[in-house]
Amino acid sequence: MAPHSQQSESLIDEAKTALDLGRLVAMPTETVYGLAAKINLPEAIKMVFQTKGRPSFDPLIVHVADIQQAKSLARSWPTTADILAHAFWPGPITLVVPKAPTVSDLISSGLDTVGIRIPNHMLALSLLRATKTPLAAPSANRFGKTSPTTADHVRSEFPEAILNGDILVLDGGSSQVGVESTVVKCNENEVLILRPGGITQTEIESAFQKSGHRFRVSTATQNAKAASPGHTEHHYMPSKPLTVFWGSHAEIEQHRALLGPEFKEIVLSDDSRIAARELYASLRMADTENGKTAIILYRKSTSKDLWEAIDDRLKRAASHRLGQIP
Ligand code: TXA
Ligand code: MG
Repeated sequence: MAPHSQQSESLIDEAKTALDLGRLVAMPTETVYGLAAKINLPEAIKMVFQTKGRPSFDPLIVHVADIQQAKSLARSWPTTADILAHAFWPGPITLVVPKAPTVSDLISSGLDTVGIRIPNHMLALSLLRATKTPLAAPSANRFGKTSPTTADHVRSEFPEAILNGDILVLDGGSSQVGVESTVVKCNENEVLILRPGGITQTEIESAFQKSGHRFRVSTATQNAKAASPGHTEHHYMPSKPLTVFWGSHAEIEQHRALLGPEFKEIVLSDDSRIAARELYASLRMADTENGKTAIILYRKSTSKDLWEAIDDRLKRAASHRLGQIP
């Protein structure tokens, strides 16, 4: 749903003005919508935390227009980050690198590092080029709740702030990836995946291989996950209890008696790219439809692909987990 270019130009102007005035912009990206503020306006950054109800210990991702701007936020730029930036930006991967002293502690929550990415969405990129200032943006949802993948999702999260004019919603259609970016801590000779997301571990490994480096890629253990402070156990929670069943249609048939008739069934696509794209809209639908709870089921593939991110979000969203829990 790409708006006409003249039309989108005036939308970008309007959004730029709002940001300059210290207001927030719900910015479409290929992963999910972000709630953006200019990184040089501390009051606007504080408003992001307040509006979301987000604890101050959970750092924000900074969105930039190009690699040069990313480097200006970093105290040092590890080779691992350089390879991943060239391989995947603009795209769904956030690189956590040593923070330059100019980046406010409000954004990094006092950590010595900053998470940076270039989003792959025409409107987000136009906005970033127009502001000439990086934009800090967490997902545009209340803390702990399901991320928004449409402008309407954002509108239903923050009706009052939008009515007040504190948030301007930039409608860029449905997010094409549908799950958040992969968050990767970039060290000199190895990287650590803090949150699985739109770029898979296999893709990261093959980018290093192509570059001729043998950097180690590991996934954060539960303990090290504290390094990605926002990624808590009960994140992405719908308000209604959600039962997730991992398994085939045949297996769910066997369990139907156990589940009872009041369950509203929502089936994810077998294609992980489609399942990821539809995931959050499905969770929101599960929340609004009648029925005691909802269940989501699908066939899990065994490769290290997008299912890793989908499984991660479903596990955090579920109050009951059934079947072959990955
Ligand atoms: O796809 C995405 O990443 C979306 C779009 C809007 O870009 N943003 C997003 O932001 O999901 P948020 O704030 O909902 O999640 C950011 C995650 C949090 O778990 C946070 O703890 C982690 O990234 N993070 C940010 N900066 C970090 C840092 N310096 N070190 C470790 N983790 C960091
Ligand atoms: Mg979030």
